[in-house]
This record gives sequence, C-alpha cells and structure tokens, in this order.
Amino acid sequence: MPRAMKAERSTGSKSTGSKSILCLISGRGSNLEALLLAARDEGWQADFGFQAAAVVSNRPDAPGLQVARAHGVPAVVLPHAQFTSREAFDAALSDLVDAHRPDLIVLAGFMRVLTPGFVARQRGRLINIHPSLLPAFAGLDTHRRALAAGVRLHGATVHFVSDQVDGGPIVAQAAVPVWPGDTEPALAARVLAQEHLLLPRCVRWILEGRVRLDGERVVADGIAPHELLVFAR
Ligand code: GRF
Repeated sequence: MPRAMKAERSTGSKSTGSKSILCLISGRGSNLEALLLAARDEGWQADFGFQAAAVVSNRPDAPGLQVARAHGVPAVVLPHAQFTSREAFDAALSDLVDAHRPDLIVLAGFMRVLTPGFVARQRGRLINIHPSLLPAFAGLDTHRRALAAGVRLHGATVHFVSDQVDGGPIVAQAAVPVWPGDTEPALAARVLAQEHLLLPRCVRWILEGRVRLDGERVVADGIAPHELLVFAR
C-alpha cells in the first residue's frame, strides 16, 4: 500500500546488458514465485539479461524468503520492528535497495505503506500489484469489500507507485467475474490466479522497455489492448 510525492534525487540504474529486479515482500510470496518461475520458464536471462538481485522482507518469518532461496535469489530481512520510525525504516530500505541497483523494484505483497520520501526516490522504477480493479478497493480486505459491495466484476491491477495509497498510473489489469454465492476464499483464489499471470507479464514489458512511465501516464509500445486488460474466468 505504497504512496509517494516529490522527486528528491535520481537513483541511477544500470544502463545495458542486464536487467535486474528487486522484490519487496512481507508474506507468502506466491507472486514472487510466479515471477521467478516465469523468468525461468520463458528464458528471461537469455532474452534480456534478467537477474533477480534480491528479495527483501520486512518480516523475518515471511514464507516468501524461502521461495527466494529456493530459486537461488539472495533473501534479505530488514525487520521494520527494529526501527523507531517509519522514516528511519524507509531510509534504510532505500539504501538497501539502491545498493543492489535494480532496474525495477517490485512490491509483491509488501504490506507496508511507504513514506513519501521512499516513493519519490524510487519513482518510475517502483511497481505494485494490488488485488482489485483500482481505483476500486484500495487498501486491505479487497475481496471481502468487493463481495459486500455486490460488484459483478473484480480483479487485480499492476501499477506504478505514486502519491496515493494503492494509487499511481496503471500498467495492466485482469478482471474476473464475481459469481452469485461466491465466498471470499473462492474469489481470492480466482483473483490470485490472475495476479500470477499479470505480474510477470508487466515486469517483462517494463524490463524490455515496452512499458514505461511518462509523467503521470503509462506508455505501452506494441502491446495489444487485450493484454493490458484481461477478462478472465
Ligand atoms: C497479493 O494478493 C497481492 O496482490 C497483495 O498481497 C498479496 C500477496 O500475496 N499486494 P503473495 O505474498 O504474493 O502470495
């Protein structure tokens, strides 16, 4: 649930030859795993020099850390509980991120609101996946709230992170139906299956340079509209 503000300084990522990501997680890591599996199975390393530089968790017990290790990706714990303020944690996190010089930072289930300073420092190379069709249902408990609202359409969004909680220019969305009698777990599973397809696609597009942030808008070159908005069942 990130948010952002004014630019403070540019961070400078590597130029050519390789494209690296750094993932921030807090828990299960199923989106992280989907991403690493897609990278492996689709041969991203050979295609465009893909590297997963590190996975950083703010929670020492996050199962996603084991996912990272199983894929040979350095797993780093930066426990937020050891910091006296949100600003102090985010400053340390930004330093840690910058030390890896990633081309893209992926919030893959990172369950902390980021400070404006962090987001400003990383703007343009910071994306998030959120389990709703934004701007509907920003924040927590999206599936429960979607059911309570009676919406017929729900889904997931990948977006660049800007100055609102779960806000920022949208890269792509996947929509799923909400069926009469749906339960929260059933709906969550339907959305999650789409998250696992959506996030790797968006990451690949960005690393390949086919999608980028231009001011407040996302520019997508040569990507079919039906890939930017998926209707799934
Ligand atoms: C996902 O639903 C993601 O959209 C949200 O947090 C959840 C993380 O799940 N931001 P996982 O850790 O990737 O399994």
